[in-house]
Amino acid sequence: MLLLVLIIALGCNNAASAQNEYEDDVDLEDDLISELDLNVAPHRVPRQVRNKITKPHIHELSITTTIISRYAFTAVSCTMLNKHSAASQAVFMFHIPAAAYISNFTMIVGGRVFPSQIKAKEQKLKKDRKGNNGTPKDKDSAENSEGEMELFRMSVKIPGRNRAIFLLTYEELLQRRLGYYQHVTSVRPMQMVSKLSVTVTIVEHSRIKHLKVLPLRKIKTSGSRNNSRADGIDNMPPSTVIRQNETFCKITFTPNIFQQVRISNNGMLGDFIVRYDVERELGIGDIQVLDGHFVHYFAPKDLPVVPKNVVFVIDTSASMLGTKMKQTKEALFTILGDLRPNDHFNFVSFSNRVRVWQPGKLVPVTPYNVRDAKKFIYMISPNGGTDINSALQAGSLLLRDYLLQKEEMNHNSVSLIIFLTDGRPTVGVVQTPVILGNAKSAVQEKFCIFTIGMGNDVDYKLLDRMALENCGTMRRIPEDADASTMLKGFYAEIGTPLLSDIRVEYSEDSVEYVTQNLFPNYFNGSEIVVAGKLTNRSSDSLHVQVTATNSDRSLVIEKDISLTEQERETKRRVEEAEAGPNADGYVERLWGFLSVKDGLNGRVRSQTSSERENFTQRATELSLSYNFLTPLTQMEVETPQVLTNGTIAGAETTETPAHSNLANRLTEEEPTGDTPQSLHRNKEQPATEARAGKTTHGLKRPGKKSVTLSKTSADGDPHFVVDFPLSKLTVCFNINGEPGDVLRLVTDHKHSGVTVNGKLIGAPAPPGSHKQQRTYFSSILIVVDKPRRSYIEVTPRKVIVDSLDRLILPCSSSVSVDNKYVAVAVVANANITITIQGTIQFIILMHIYKNPAPYQRDHLGFYIADSKGLSKDTHGLLGQFIYEEVTLTQRLGNITAATENGTQEQTMTQGNPGPGHMALQVKERIVDVVKKSRNIYSGTHTVHCWFAKNNAAKLIDGQYKDYVVSHMFDTEDWPHGTNVH
Ligand SMILES: *[C@@H]1O[C@H](CO)[C@@H](O)[C@H](O)[C@H]1NC(C)=O
Ligand SMILES: *[C@@H]1O[C@H](CO)[C@@H](O)[C@H](O)[C@H]1NC(C)=O
Ligand SMILES: *[C@@H]1O[C@H](CO)[C@@H](O)[C@H](O)[C@H]1NC(C)=O
Repeated sequence: MLLLVLIIALGCNNAASAQNEYEDDVDLEDDLISELDLNVAPHRVPRQVRNKITKPHIHELSITTTIISRYAFTAVSCTMLNKHSAASQAVFMFHIPAAAYISNFTMIVGGRVFPSQIKAKEQKLKKDRKGNNGTPKDKDSAENSEGEMELFRMSVKIPGRNRAIFLLTYEELLQRRLGYYQHVTSVRPMQMVSKLSVTVTIVEHSRIKHLKVLPLRKIKTSGSRNNSRADGIDNMPPSTVIRQNETFCKITFTPNIFQQVRISNNGMLGDFIVRYDVERELGIGDIQVLDGHFVHYFAPKDLPVVPKNVVFVIDTSASMLGTKMKQTKEALFTILGDLRPNDHFNFVSFSNRVRVWQPGKLVPVTPYNVRDAKKFIYMISPNGGTDINSALQAGSLLLRDYLLQKEEMNHNSVSLIIFLTDGRPTVGVVQTPVILGNAKSAVQEKFCIFTIGMGNDVDYKLLDRMALENCGTMRRIPEDADASTMLKGFYAEIGTPLLSDIRVEYSEDSVEYVTQNLFPNYFNGSEIVVAGKLTNRSSDSLHVQVTATNSDRSLVIEKDISLTEQERETKRRVEEAEAGPNADGYVERLWGFLSVKDGLNGRVRSQTSSERENFTQRATELSLSYNFLTPLTQMEVETPQVLTNGTIAGAETTETPAHSNLANRLTEEEPTGDTPQSLHRNKEQPATEARAGKTTHGLKRPGKKSVTLSKTSADGDPHFVVDFPLSKLTVCFNINGEPGDVLRLVTDHKHSGVTVNGKLIGAPAPPGSHKQQRTYFSSILIVVDKPRRSYIEVTPRKVIVDSLDRLILPCSSSVSVDNKYVAVAVVANANITITIQGTIQFIILMHIYKNPAPYQRDHLGFYIADSKGLSKDTHGLLGQFIYEEVTLTQRLGNITAATENGTQEQTMTQGNPGPGHMALQVKERIVDVVKKSRNIYSGTHTVHCWFAKNNAAKLIDGQYKDYVVSHMFDTEDWPHGTNVH
C-alpha cells in the first residue's frame, strides 16, 4: 500500500491553493523562531506562535545547476522540518521548465531513503495517472512567456520531531533563441527559507559572452500587467554574485530571510533567469566528443537574409474581442514594420467567414502596401465562430499559387504561414484528423506552418500536430499573458531566415543513431543541434558536411574532425570546471535527451499505427535507460508509512500501485478522455474541468417544464417592465434607442461577474404609428466572468455558448447544455433559459416571423427569472431596480402625499386618480406615472403597471446615453455611482 504515483500537473493549477496552505508559514517571525528551534528545546517557543506553525518548515533549499555546453543538470535539495511531536503532512513543490525531464527523485524521511523508479507507462493505467488534485485552475496565476513551467508535487507525512529531505534532479538542453541561451530557475518555496541558495555554473568550450542575470521575474497576474521583464533596469536580484572567466562562470543567489521578505512576503520570489551566448567561429560549428558520443552545434551568422513569403492567418472570432484582439493588432503593426523590402506577404482573417486582404496574390513590402495592410488589421472586428480549416486552406492557396508563379525565377525564399487562433474549430470542418489531412495536402511540403495558440480554449494538440507535420513550431500564449510582446518575440525568432533545407551529414561508417539532421529552415539567433553515437571507434577522423541553401546560392561546408583531439579538449573543459559526476556523461545524456524528443515528435507525426508503435517503443526505451520522466514513462515512489506513534513502519513494496492518500480524490474522478500525448504534462485544465466539459456536450433534450414567469423584462420595441417585489409595484417604460446601440441591461461584473448587453436594430414603424422607427433587440450577450469567463450570445437564429469550449446551438431545435458554470436550455423557436451558478436565471424569448411584414424584424425579449445571485450593486437598465424600493404617491397640486404600499391595488382600481396624479418616489426623485397594461411573454400574459413617460426620465439613474456601451463584450460596471440623476 505504500507506492504512490507522482502527480505532475501544470504549475498554475496548484499555486493558489498552495499559497493558502502555506499562509501560516509566511510570517517572518515564525521563521526566525523556527530557526532558533533547531538548536533550542521546543518549549521555548511562545505558545501562541507555536500554535500557528502547523506545517513542516523548509529549513534549507538549494538549487544547483551545472550547464555544460548548453546541457543543464539541475539538482534540487529541500529539507523540511517537523518540529511537532505529531506526524505532519509535508508538501514538496517545485516548478520545472516544461522542456526539461526529471531524471531522479529521492526522499529521505526520518533517516530512511525512499528512492523512486521510472517505469514504462502502461496503457491501461495511463488514464488514472492523469489525475491531479482537482484544484480548480487559477487563471490569474498563469505562467508567462518562455518560462513555461510545470509543477512537481510530492506530499509525504513526516514523523514527529523529524525531517524529510527531498532530492530532485532534472535535465534540459537550452535552446538558443533570439541570439541567447536562457536558463530559468523557479524560486517559489512559498515560505521564508532559512538557507536558500541558487547556484548556476556554466562551462562552455567557447568564450561566454553577453552574460546577464535578469531581475526576478514574477508570475504575471491580471492585476499587474507590467511585469518585471522590463529590461530597462538591469537590477540583479539582491545577493547575486557572479564569478567568471572566459569559458567558465559561477552565479550564486543566496538571499537571506530579510532579503527574501523584501522581494516577496509570501515566498514567491519568482524566476531567477540567466542569459548568455557564446562566441563562435564561422564554419562547421562546434563538435564535442565524449565516451563514444558526439554533439554538434551549428549556428552560423552573418549570412545574407533569405527573403520570406509569409501569410498571416489570424483568428477574428468573437472570443478574440477585447484585450486579445487589441494585443494581436498591436503586435501585427510592429511585425508589419519589421518586414524586409524583399519579403512578400498577405493577411487572412477568419471567423465563420474567411477574408483575404489581397485576394489571389502575395504583395511586396512597399510603404503603400504596409499602410493598406495596417488599415485592414485596424478594421478587423471580431465576431462569429472559428473555421480553422477554411482559413488554412485559403492561406495555403495564396502561398501555393505565389510559389507556382515564381518558379521560373531561380531565387530562393522561405515560405511560411503564421497561424494564430484562440479557439477550437467550431465552423466548417471541425474534425481534427480532417483538418490536419487537408492542411498537409494543401501545403505539399512547399512551406511551413507556425502555429500560435492564445489562451485556455485552444486545441493545442491540433496546433502542435499541425506545426510538426508542416515543419513549423507551435507556441502557446497563456491566458492573461502579455500577448503582444510574446507575439512579437515569436515573430522575431522566425522573422530572419538565413538558410533553408539544411542537411547535416557525417561519414556514414562512423556514426549511428544520429538525431534529426534535416532542417527546413535556420533562423537567425537560433541553433541547430545534432547528436549521435560513434560506431567505428578505431577511426579517428570524422567527416562532417553541412549543405544548405541561402538566398541565391547553395552552401556546402565540410571538415574532417579528429575525434581524439576533440575528446581530449572536451574532457579538459569538463575537468577544469569541476562540474561533478553529472558532467561525466553529458554528451551521451544530451544525445539521449534529443533522441527522446525526436521519438516523441516522430510519434505525433506518424501516419500509421505501426510507425507510431515504433517511435513509442524507442522513445520509451531511451527514457528508461536515462531515467527520464517523459510523457511515456511514470514515476513510482515509495512513501513512508508513518505509524500512529509517529515512527516509520518498514516500507513495503507492492506490485500494484495503490494511490494511498490520493485514493479518495482519484476515485472521484472518472478517467478523462485521451489527452494529447505530446502535451501530456502540459495539461491546461484539471481533469474534473475537462470532464465537466465533456459531459456537458452530451446534448440532451430538455423536458417540458413550465417556466415561472417574471415580469422584469425588456421585450418588444423595447418595452421595459420592472417588478419591485419589495414595494409590490410594477412599473413600465419605453426606451427609444438608436439602431446599432448596445444597451447595458444588467451589469454586476464586480460581484457575480454577470453582464447582459443587448444590441438594437431598427425597423420602420408600422403604418399609422406616430413614431418614425422602432427598435428591437437583435442580439443579447451574457458575459459570465466567474468562476470562469463564459459568453452566451443569443440571436433569433442561434445561441453561441463559449465556455469550456465553444458550441453553436441552432434555435430551431430543442437542446440543453450544462456545465458547472452555466446551463443553457433551448426550446425550439420559443425561448432560451440561461441559468448561471444556480442562482441567476434569464429567459430570452425568440420572436421569429415566418413571413415578416416590412416593419417586422426577428427579435428577442429578455426576462429576469431569478435574480438571487445578483448583488445589491447590480446596475443597468433593468438591473438597477432589482433591490430598489419605490413608493407610489399621489400628487395634489403642490402637496405630495405618500400612500401606503399596501393600497396599491385600491389605487389601481380607482382608475383615473382624479384631480391629482400619481407619482413614484425613486431614491430622491419624483416620477410622474400613469396606469397602463402591458402584454408580455408573447401576449400570453398581461401585467398592469405604472408607466413612466419620456424614456423613463428620472426613473432610471442617469440618461439614455449612460446605458450605451461600446461593444457587446463591454463589462464595465455602472460608472456613475448610484445616486446620480
Ligand atoms: C537518485 O538519487 C539518489 C540520491 O542522490 C541516488 O542514491 C540514486 O542512485 C539516484 N538514482 C539514479 C537512478 O540516478
Ligand atoms: C576559469 O575558472 C575555472 C574555475 O575557477 C578554472 O578552472 C579555469 O582554469 C579558468 N580558466 C581560465 C581561462 O582562466
Ligand atoms: C520499425 O523499426 C524497425 C527498426 O527499428 C524498422 O526496421 C521498421 O521498418 C520500422 N517500422 C516502421 C513501420 O517504421
